[in-house]
Amino acid sequence: MSLRENLAFFSQTLKQFQTTGALVPSSPSLARAMAWPLRQPRKHPWSILEVGPGTGSFTRQLAGSMGEKDRLDCYELNEHFHHHLSQRLKTEPHFQVRGRQINLLHQDIRKLPAKARYDLVLSGLPFNNFPPELVSEIMAILYRALKPGATLVYFEYLLLRKAKSAALGGQERRRLAAIESVLNSFHAKGTSRDEVVWMNLPPARVRSLTKPLK
Ligand SMILES: C[S@@+](CC[C@H](N)C(=O)[O-])C[C@H]1O[C@@H](n2cnc3c(N)ncnc32)[C@H](O)[C@@H]1O
Repeated sequence: MSLRENLAFFSQTLKQFQTTGALVPSSPSLARAMAWPLRQPRKHPWSILEVGPGTGSFTRQLAGSMGEKDRLDCYELNEHFHHHLSQRLKTEPHFQVRGRQINLLHQDIRKLPAKARYDLVLSGLPFNNFPPELVSEIMAILYRALKPGATLVYFEYLLLRKAKSAALGGQERRRLAAIESVLNSFHAKGTSRDEVVWMNLPPARVRSLTKPLK
């Protein structure tokens, strides 16, 4: 992660904390853990969706793990991040190998076409910063976008929800509890997998939800 990338990220954190939700980009260790499904055996090329790529920590990992027929759509809301990542895609050698397979859109994920379906969905969205209704709306969109048997992977900062709930007032505690219950209701639909990544600032939990085949 370059200093330029960290500065680009931090300047947006200051301007748009609610949608950015982090102080620095995710670490390579977190990016590797997020991309675990791509290291499993698979029978055909995958279409992949990344939501909220920011400066591209996960995108870089995905580009390195994709096969030559896989495709990746990235939806980024923030204009500055979109511009930053589109420059990286054009200029950095490790992106150029897979550059033509990556479609970066400056678009809110809520504009994802209803018929879009993917073999893997990676989300970098800061759910704990959002109102529960927005988490519910976006989770429904991401779950719908999964093909049967496909996996949604997202992350949360470790213990952040619990620590915030303990430190903050009743309204904020209720918001965080409502987010947890929204996420649990989606996890009840499929198979879950959790992995803790300590090498990140702050440490994070990678949460995966695999949609049933039927
Ligand atoms: C916590 S940052 C994660 C950035 C990067 N994936 C990482 O881990 O370093 C969240 C990202 O989600 C983007 N974002 C927030 N809401 C979004 C939305 N509705 N649609 C698309 N992107 C969104 C933000 O602009 C930001 O780039």
